[in-house]
Amino acid sequence: MKKRIDVSAPGKLMLFGEHSVMYGHPCIVTAVNQRIRVSLESTRKELLEIEAPDVGIVGYKKKLEFLGKKEPKEVRFLEGAVKNFFKEFKVRSGVKINTKSEFSSEFGFGSSSAVTVAVLKGLSILFKKKLSQKTLFDLSYKTVLDIQGTGSGFDLAAAIWGGTLLFVRGGKTITPLKVKRLPLVVGYTGIKADTPTLVRQVAGLYKDYPNLIKRTFEAIAFITREAKVTLIKGDLKKIGDLMNLNQGLLDVLGVNTLELSRLIWAARKGGAYGAKLSGAGGGDCMLALASEKNRSKVEKAIEDAGGKVLKVQAQTEGVKVKKI
Ligand code: PMV
Repeated sequence: MKKRIDVSAPGKLMLFGEHSVMYGHPCIVTAVNQRIRVSLESTRKELLEIEAPDVGIVGYKKKLEFLGKKEPKEVRFLEGAVKNFFKEFKVRSGVKINTKSEFSSEFGFGSSSAVTVAVLKGLSILFKKKLSQKTLFDLSYKTVLDIQGTGSGFDLAAAIWGGTLLFVRGGKTITPLKVKRLPLVVGYTGIKADTPTLVRQVAGLYKDYPNLIKRTFEAIAFITREAKVTLIKGDLKKIGDLMNLNQGLLDVLGVNTLELSRLIWAARKGGAYGAKLSGAGGGDCMLALASEKNRSKVEKAIEDAGGKVLKVQAQTEGVKVKKI
């Protein structure tokens, strides 16, 4: 019987500390219950075969010696993951990979990272190579840096560990946080943001105003550390305040937009404890924290302001292998 491995990995939402995490400060990320599902089989052909209909890739075939060369952008992370795995573990085999996503890659939930993690985890099981979570993180991070050139790796940590994590760039710190409840409302602006462009934009601002931006990063780090304690305590009112404070500083960094602001203010006026953008900014999603009582009011306010409410739950399980 042919062996098939089914793996899934969750998307993520940044709660606190975006951008400042690129400068060595901590951030807090949570995994969301929207997953990428990947199934893998080894084959006798000298080929990587991919079926990823969600991103328009059907019947894709690549000779193993050409992995990572001239690939379409939709399969860059998947192909990079296979290439790095084969190189690291000196494996050579045909492999067939199918992917299916529960969410659109437009939302900024980290589909590239989730697919990278799921593929590497699946390959490790298929080819019986032991991978600790940290080794899986390191290989995933190498893959993302090979392709994207930049990034803290926070999304990979969320895809691997799941839950809610305090994270420092490159996986220097990965601390699971015991957060009791995190009633988030997520609003999508309808605008796809390009993370590397925004990271470069902030780097440019830092160069022009080093003293001011350094202090802004430090203030964000202060809020993130406060948020860590407050999330564990479960003080929703204060978490909301900290989200608002963090948002003000993201505005200082120039990554807020009119569309994000509209949704954030609508949520606040609708009775949220607090609201902020999530991730690089420039578009993608915003987050609000709302009591059960106010949730539907906040959701309606976001929709009325032109946003699309995405039903997600925070703190979901990390990468998971389905036994078949
Ligand atoms: O846009 P997202 O959701 O990938 O978040 C980017 C967060 C940054 O801190 C700006 C970059 C990073 O890799 O940490």
